[in-house]
Amino acid sequence: MSLDIFLDDNELIARIKDLKKERNAIILAHSYERPEVQDIADYVGDSLELSRLAAKTDADVIVFCSVHFMAETAKILSPQKTVLLPAAEAGCPLADMITPAQLEVEKAKHPNAAVVAYVNCSAEIKAMADVCCTSANAVQVVDAMPQDEILFVPDQHLGRWVQTQTNKKMILWAGCCPTHQRMKAKDILELKKEHPGCEVVVHPESNEDICNLADAILSTSQMLRYCQASSAKTFIIGTEMGMLHRLRTAMPDKTFLQPSKGLICPNMKMTQLEDVYEALKELKNPIEIPEPIRIKALASLNGMLAAVPTK
Ligand code: 13P
Repeated sequence: MSLDIFLDDNELIARIKDLKKERNAIILAHSYERPEVQDIADYVGDSLELSRLAAKTDADVIVFCSVHFMAETAKILSPQKTVLLPAAEAGCPLADMITPAQLEVEKAKHPNAAVVAYVNCSAEIKAMADVCCTSANAVQVVDAMPQDEILFVPDQHLGRWVQTQTNKKMILWAGCCPTHQRMKAKDILELKKEHPGCEVVVHPESNEDICNLADAILSTSQMLRYCQASSAKTFIIGTEMGMLHRLRTAMPDKTFLQPSKGLICPNMKMTQLEDVYEALKELKNPIEIPEPIRIKALASLNGMLAAVPTK
């Protein structure tokens, strides 16, 4: 074990900054990352913003503080760059809820349907899809497809919410995010009673009963912009707890509450400052994707970026 492990946070942060310069690296962090990781990142964003940044950065190294599928997305978009996932084991249970073999069977059942893959899936699933989407652009991507039928994978809740916004016929895969499933409608109702005038803002991976209580259903970065624009002072935030740090940092004069206990994604919390430092120092945990899969997955991601050219 390296003695560097005993560095205190200030020393770690200083060394991360030095290494970043030396490597011509950029640090991207998802809204669910630990506060100290968000604070050292060059950009904190939702999965759509981070994909766009990964596609256009001229850094040589992208340190992607998040989970595997997001770092993989960056590598698909920027194959010539070194993309590092500081916590190599950080996966996504939702992404694991569909395999290529399962999708093959479902595609055969719906030959006229376009396959729209939420980015929370593996590169292999992206490669089999017609197009990708994120929570920020799912409705626009679905509407942009020429087909009337959409086979939407793997998140049933995002797909069900899209169905309320489109005339397309949505066929939903039964996947879900275990963290968002922990939210209870009764907790939101209780908090609303305690904080009259507050607004309820939830992520579309939430259950239907939760979405029915929401003033707005948004991706994490859309939540930030919504709360900035709103005249409300107090918000109930229905998503992973890391988002609270992002909101409180951007709007210290407003109050952000979590509806239920335990809204924590263990995978997003795996990345610690030590991992970021080690990743930069050793160029540790680079993402690799077989080229034939990457090329096909790239077409699905480019389809998304072209369908919705701006945020
Ligand atoms: P965003 O689209 O807001 O980045 O959310 C991604 C996600 O994985 C939500 O659980």
